[in-house]
Amino acid sequence: MFDVEKIRQEFPILGIQVNGKNLVYLDNAATTQKPKSVINSLVKYYETRNSNVHRGVHFLSDKATTEYENARSNIARYINAEKPHELIFVRGTTEAVNLAASSYGEIAVKAGDEVIVSYLEHHSNIVPWQLLCERKGASLKVIPVNDSGELDIEAYKKLLNGKTKIVAVNHISNSLGTINPVKEIIRLAHDAGAVVLIDGAQSVQHTKINVLDLDADFFAFSGHKMYGPTGIGVLYGKEKLLDSMPPYQGGGDMIQNVSFEKTTYNELPYKFEAGTPDISGAIVLSDAVDFILSAGIENIANHEHEILEYGTAKLREIDGFRLIGSAKKKASVISFLLDGIHPYDTGMILDKMGIAVRTGLHCTEPLMKRFGIPGTVRASIAMYNTKSELDLLVEGVKKAKKMLL
Ligand code: ALA
Repeated sequence: MFDVEKIRQEFPILGIQVNGKNLVYLDNAATTQKPKSVINSLVKYYETRNSNVHRGVHFLSDKATTEYENARSNIARYINAEKPHELIFVRGTTEAVNLAASSYGEIAVKAGDEVIVSYLEHHSNIVPWQLLCERKGASLKVIPVNDSGELDIEAYKKLLNGKTKIVAVNHISNSLGTINPVKEIIRLAHDAGAVVLIDGAQSVQHTKINVLDLDADFFAFSGHKMYGPTGIGVLYGKEKLLDSMPPYQGGGDMIQNVSFEKTTYNELPYKFEAGTPDISGAIVLSDAVDFILSAGIENIANHEHEILEYGTAKLREIDGFRLIGSAKKKASVISFLLDGIHPYDTGMILDKMGIAVRTGLHCTEPLMKRFGIPGTVRASIAMYNTKSELDLLVEGVKKAKKMLL
């Protein structure tokens, strides 16, 4: 049984007051809050296990190494990767995409080739590919969206051709909440001979991920959006692709032998983990995964969907409310505007009421331009949000309207 009140008790920050009001945290697409088990695990790591990995023969180093690698295995199971060494620990989704674009892009893309992204992408899944295309003399192609914020799959099919080398799309849009048909997108790309990177930053905490079933070539996500710490994330890649790729950064741990004449590289995953990694981050992220598993990913998805539908319906009753993004398949995000009011002003008034939302472009400037808007107010939902918090958002929006119009 999913008991949201019990879940809330696990998150100390949800008990604080902001501007004299109980915090209503609805900025979960930016980052989620952390449960006690995650916070305690970080403290426990530094109090009892702190040491460097893969380096020492002593007790602590051995313990830190074991736990770091156990974390990799646990997170691999969570996304149903076949082998733990197909997971590279990175700083977050942004670094994961940059790694794939730099390293795989280096061997896969040449002048005249094409890379496909979509209008729904976060800047972090646009700019690394743009840099690659500029470097290589390749072109960036963009899958359009319809007025509901859904990808135009027929247009996508037409973009695919023998020159397409990489397709990079998100699983769930951070700005609109659209759930993209990634399995179909991957199948179509594979039929055209292209490799696919899925940006899972907004899906890995909301829905069951099965990279094998999706047949994703690369899958990127961040720890801090899934109840884990900042500074840690994962690039999953199929073994044969990762094996074929050159190192991304040089340094300790990523090498086998070094001489001034020639350096040979370590095996996976270490080839891509130069320098001391975020050891505590990886271990604590594994605890965040356990927390999600104990709540049940399907329970979380159902609960969040109920809150999403409830909040959307209530907000829609407000005169002048304009929902941006009304895809048939949506998760966890309500992006909106109020007629005649700048999103920033709405956000400021909500903050005075203790309600945290994000306002602006949400790192998706091309998408906002596509809709001809200066940005949106975005309420994004996590497992601990409640209907009464959405009621408070509705009250806050009504108040903002009254004050600003
Ligand atoms: N990508 C994060 C967001 O959508 C920061 O807010």
